[in-house]
Amino acid sequence: MDFSLSLKQKQIRQMVREFAKTELAPLAKEIDEEGRFPWEVVEKMGRLNFFGMQAPRQYGGAETDSISYCLVIEEISRVCAAMGLTLSVHNSVAVYPISQFGTDEQKTKYLPPLASGEKIGAFCLTEPNAGSDALSIESTAIPEGEHYLINANKIFVTNGGVADTLILFASVFPGNVKKGFSAFLVERGTPGFEVGLLENNCGMRANPVCSIILTDCRVPKSNLLGKEGDGFKIAMTALDTGRIGIAAQAVGIGQGALDVSLNYAKERVQFGVPLSRHQAIQVMLADMGTMVEAARLLTLQAAYLRDQGGDLSCSSAMAKLFASEMASKVATMGVQIHGGYGYSKDYPIERYFRDARATEIYEGTSEIQRIVIARELLKREEA
Ligand code: CAA
Repeated sequence: MDFSLSLKQKQIRQMVREFAKTELAPLAKEIDEEGRFPWEVVEKMGRLNFFGMQAPRQYGGAETDSISYCLVIEEISRVCAAMGLTLSVHNSVAVYPISQFGTDEQKTKYLPPLASGEKIGAFCLTEPNAGSDALSIESTAIPEGEHYLINANKIFVTNGGVADTLILFASVFPGNVKKGFSAFLVERGTPGFEVGLLENNCGMRANPVCSIILTDCRVPKSNLLGKEGDGFKIAMTALDTGRIGIAAQAVGIGQGALDVSLNYAKERVQFGVPLSRHQAIQVMLADMGTMVEAARLLTLQAAYLRDQGGDLSCSSAMAKLFASEMASKVATMGVQIHGGYGYSKDYPIERYFRDARATEIYEGTSEIQRIVIARELLKREEA
């Protein structure tokens, strides 16, 4: 078993770490408070090909291996989780499914501007009555000549406020949603396309999460991704990869929470010595560090397995489940170490605490991850 990173992977991690420290760290608090999408940094990330990690080289992508991909998402999220989320959703559940299921024509048209970061991608699955139960969507796409007439009400769309290219799920057979479940490439600006209200979320506030509404929106038939009825498998395949990205994001949040807690524990003096000299604090720091490391290993293992090919559902669900719950626990312990200051917006641990919580919910709640894992374990047991 070899746990070492290649030279190239180490170089990528170092480069992203530097970038996050110099470009993102000074802005993280401000963009969270203002709920602002930082285009100035996004442009720089585009130049570094962070938006093309999951796209093939021939379409302007970087075709990054999955371990390097996780290292990038982790290092960005360590400093600014909202930007880690932007990159993860853009790459894993927008660029990747187009790369995987798109026709040559679709890839040629949509991938280059997505890979360069000139256009941002989003994934529109969730609806008011279809969250964990994704097969309950009510959005429809009725074939009409050379178009589909799409009516959809999608909510909690990450990147929604800035996305230009959206993968949207709707059924072509309203009477049989599962049979008609299909994926469409929808462009912002198509008549009938409306960006709804921004969600007033607790965390990840620099990411413009919002609803997307399509009213009698005519989408060309050439924008069907895969075949009619393939949509659910496309969504699940995208989420299998997406969950590794969210796991890496959670590892970054956990590591960031640990970083600021270590610093605080060394600086803050109580009972005449720094907090770091108190065993009660040392115990917490030790548990935090161990949990972060365990989540990182599970995440990198899922990434490694992805690059080897084969079924990814169980390993990505395990990584996402463990890493997201770790991030919440570690951030909570970090708040405790900070005491009253941990509850104040003046200290970054409060932001990690809010951001961590979302990772247990999006791209499948912890309960859904447990369902996916248990089903797989039971299948193996039966085999
Ligand atoms: N890969 C490929 N196919 C898969 C699959 C996978 N990982 N998982 C299931 N399928 C296939 C099944 O084989 C089955 O195919 P057949 O009908 O041909 O047999 C079909 O899909 C239906 O599968 P299930 O019977 O397992 O379906 P289910 O209704 O029991 O639900 C579920 C499965 C795992 C619970 C799924 O609904 C799920 O993952 N739900 C959570 C959805 C989710 O993650 N939502 C978050 C959305 S995005 C977001 O968070 C915001 C954002 O902006 C990114």
